[in-house]
Amino acid sequence: MPRPTIPQLQSRVTSGEPLVMLTAYDSTFARLAEAAGIDFLLVGDSVGMTLLGHASTVPVTMDDMLHHTRAVVRATQNAHVVCDLPFMSYHCGEDEAVRNAGRAMQEAGAQSVKFEGGARWSSFVTRCTDAGIPIMGHIGLRPQQSSLLGGYPAQGRTAEAAEQLLDDALALEAAGAWALLLEKMPVEVAAAITQHVRIPTIGIGSGPHCSGQVQVMHDVLGLDENFRPRHSAQYADLAAPIREAFARYANDVKARSFPTDKQSVNGGDALAGFPMPRPPRSSSTLL
Ligand code: KIV
Repeated sequence: MPRPTIPQLQSRVTSGEPLVMLTAYDSTFARLAEAAGIDFLLVGDSVGMTLLGHASTVPVTMDDMLHHTRAVVRATQNAHVVCDLPFMSYHCGEDEAVRNAGRAMQEAGAQSVKFEGGARWSSFVTRCTDAGIPIMGHIGLRPQQSSLLGGYPAQGRTAEAAEQLLDDALALEAAGAWALLLEKMPVEVAAAITQHVRIPTIGIGSGPHCSGQVQVMHDVLGLDENFRPRHSAQYADLAAPIREAFARYANDVKARSFPTDKQSVNGGDALAGFPMPRPPRSSSTLL
């Protein structure tokens, strides 16, 4: 099955089928996600925190996004891959913004592009759409604003703020966005937006009434024992088993019980005449 196109994803929503999206940042996990039937992969700027060790998404660069998107695209054939535009890649002029959105497709092979922003970004969305770049808006909590917000609070919690989110959604749709990501807003607000727009809404921390859901892969797999966000669905608890596997490997190397003959190449008769190895040095010889 080839990668689903935008019209195919939109018509699935029209026929009532929820869209399932998961973040992916590398080939191994992208391949596993695709094999599991997840047909919509987001190379999110969350890569900054999940893989690159940053405290927020702010330090993530366009080059980081292209690098990780390429890995996900290379490993998959059936998934629709969305590349996130990182902090400062679309804020310093519309020409540069459109150019960076285009790079995600042209240089990394993404099928569509996501950015954080509402109605004020309408002209950028229209220019991308005119250029043939399918663009997904991201409203509600916008993690790239965390320095201003003082963290990652839920958004749209007053009637006025909720109204603004609905206006943003309608403006982005009118400008040409093909889908919207709704992050961390009240269930009622996400439901109202989903009712009012004709394009798919993909929710995270925004309740069950969106057209689809997205989760961060590390949360789903339980890879970070110290970070378990309330809105995440944890389907495995892999941090402890992975740590245990690493510890067993380390112990085996230290105890010289790895590698064994099974993991070693033996030269045999072909090495006749080669000086025989000396007995292994013990730790006291090393001193
Ligand atoms: O970068 C990201 O992972 C996101 C999440 C909201 C899914 O945008």
